[in-house]
Amino acid sequence: MTIPELAEIIKQWQLPEGGALLDRIERMIQPAVMEGRFLASPTATVCGLQYHLGGEQDTEELAELAAITADDHVLDVCCYLGGPAIQLAESFGCRITGIDLFERFIIAASRIAELAGLSDRAEFRIGNATNLPFSDGQFTVVWSQCALHHDEAWLREFHRVTAPRGRLAMTFDIRRQNPDKHSPRWCLQDIVSLLRDLGYSVDHAEDITERDIEFGWKALDRKLSEKEDEYAAVLGKDWVRYAHEEFNSEIKRMRKGRWGNGRIVATKL
Ligand SMILES: C[S@@+](CC[C@H](N)C(=O)[O-])C[C@H]1O[C@@H](n2cnc3c(N)ncnc32)[C@H](O)[C@@H]1O
Repeated sequence: MTIPELAEIIKQWQLPEGGALLDRIERMIQPAVMEGRFLASPTATVCGLQYHLGGEQDTEELAELAAITADDHVLDVCCYLGGPAIQLAESFGCRITGIDLFERFIIAASRIAELAGLSDRAEFRIGNATNLPFSDGQFTVVWSQCALHHDEAWLREFHRVTAPRGRLAMTFDIRRQNPDKHSPRWCLQDIVSLLRDLGYSVDHAEDITERDIEFGWKALDRKLSEKEDEYAAVLGKDWVRYAHEEFNSEIKRMRKGRWGNGRIVATKL
């Protein structure tokens, strides 16, 4: 039997007591789905549905800086499991479209939005940031957290799909004073200059490295400690030890100036 045949049988499987096998499995794993616990990296696992430093707080702060309202149609580029998109639709009332390269994230994000009762305002589709599957000027806000590749094609696409007077709101990693050798990262000022050259006015540009140490890595480390038994039961004690090491090593690297994070809100002129 081939794998697709097996998958088809599992899909059709009805339990003797009634109901479909896949529905039963989904109910069983729903708490883990809602927390986004389906990636191997410790950072992704502990981040949950918001895979960036600062979690929901970062999303709320960026949305306030970008003055997002219920009138906005936001494009979330690199939406992953849709956690930020769902928060924006829920707390700010906007309509949101998320895109990501990977089908499995899009399927999960769509299902999570459905479970949250937000399918009418949050939709997700496969797409590449370098060739966005949207027409010019379609969104009032282009949004991206912790995903920007330091490649001008990304910024050109963000600019193309933004409506006149629309905003760009993003967080991203940046080069700092003591970078890793051959790091291709831009520094915050490089991004500001590139956006001005494209025709944006930059309303807010901030180095958030210190905040991301305190409310990012340290918060992840605390969350891991608080739920240590739970994580160890599922992923093992070695995984927990490795995860603590990873978070603390990134704190050291940020403090040494190897890399950092920044955020920008800009308006398309
Ligand atoms: C660190 S995660 C950030 C997730 C999300 N923005 C959040 O804050 O929860 C980076 C995401 O970017 C996606 N990605 C990477 N390159 C991409 C590309 N060229 N186009 C679209 N998505 C991409 C990955 O699949 C991943 O889901």
